[in-house]
Amino acid sequence: MRIALLGFGSVGRGIARAILAKDLSITVTGLADSRSGLIDPDGIDLAAALARKGNGDPCGLPDTSPADVVAKADYDVLVEVTPTNVETAEPALGHIREALRRHKHVVTSNKGPIAIAYPELRALAEANGVFLKYEATVCGAIPLIHALQEGLAGNTISRLYGVFNGTCNYILTRMAAEGLTYEQALAEARELGYAEADPTYDVEGIDAAIKLVILANTILGMQTTLADVERTGITLLTPDALQLAEDQDCTIRLIGEIVPEAGALRVSPRLIPEVHPLVVEGTLNAVSVETDLAGELTFIGKGAGSTETASAVIGDLLYIQSRHVQGS
Ligand SMILES: NC(=O)c1ccc[n+]([C@@H]2O[C@H](COP(=O)([O-])OP(=O)(O)OC[C@H]3O[C@@H](n4cnc5c(N)ncnc54)[C@H](OP(=O)(O)O)[C@@H]3O)[C@@H](O)[C@H]2O)c1
Repeated sequence: MRIALLGFGSVGRGIARAILAKDLSITVTGLADSRSGLIDPDGIDLAAALARKGNGDPCGLPDTSPADVVAKADYDVLVEVTPTNVETAEPALGHIREALRRHKHVVTSNKGPIAIAYPELRALAEANGVFLKYEATVCGAIPLIHALQEGLAGNTISRLYGVFNGTCNYILTRMAAEGLTYEQALAEARELGYAEADPTYDVEGIDAAIKLVILANTILGMQTTLADVERTGITLLTPDALQLAEDQDCTIRLIGEIVPEAGALRVSPRLIPEVHPLVVEGTLNAVSVETDLAGELTFIGKGAGSTETASAVIGDLLYIQSRHVQGS
């Protein structure tokens, strides 16, 4: 299978390293970062591209743009792993549309295009006879979308709720364990690389809300936008609130919840018993799903990370390979 890899940051490099380390029958024929690109139908030297990036250089040539790679490279699947833009989803959205129109499958870890334009992109993929896969957009390594679409097919989901943001979970875990203030725990999360310089997107619950929109629209048959999510972040939580929770054998977690029948999507800090399966530590994610046939299931795993997110992307690629590319 030949892929074009758009984005060579944490996730893109994780994918490249996994392709180099394992025999996955995947050849990268197009590669781009924000400033450069490479096209080689015989396969790009990924080790050399990783080395260039490691030295702080662009991965490819300045005269080849990401748009050139999407439009001109010869590939079966566009792997779109560039930064999320929650307002317009661009430029990723345009690149995904172009690839689908070229009858190329698309695998993405980018939440923007899926949260904003899924119905349109899905219709475009169907019209062109290709797959659009996005496992990595929700909960990193946890194969939640696959489980919901395949393993739990036929179930009616009455409620889906959980910890969708590892940065907030880390902050809350540290506040509870050490009595740290929100500001102290955030500073620690930044030092360890778990929080961005501007953490708004995580700590205000926006990241969790986007993941709810993706699940609601793509799995649960709802038609929602970010504005439909009732949202409260963790910035106003105090060590006293966590102490009060502990006095009742509870703790506080930022919980995202969807109740399809009520059309409700919400993200808020919630009191949960310390022994509840959703009380996971550090940067882990955890999601519980209530179903009619299978009962309640809880999925726990790493919600982010270079290798972990690459795992989800590669799972999608091999799904496509097993169903389409080899048989075509
Ligand atoms: N990191 C995770 O654990 C994780 C988990 C789940 C989902 N995601 C999602 O996966 C995507 C990638 O995340 P990441 O952590 O790998 O981000 P990142 O480390 O910031 O890397 C982004 C890459 O995209 C490149 N890029 C930026 N604008 C571009 C453009 N217009 N065209 C082509 N390439 C462009 C950047 O180029 P330069 O190298 O030149 O800057 C960089 O190589 C994001 O949408 C993120 O939300 C990430």
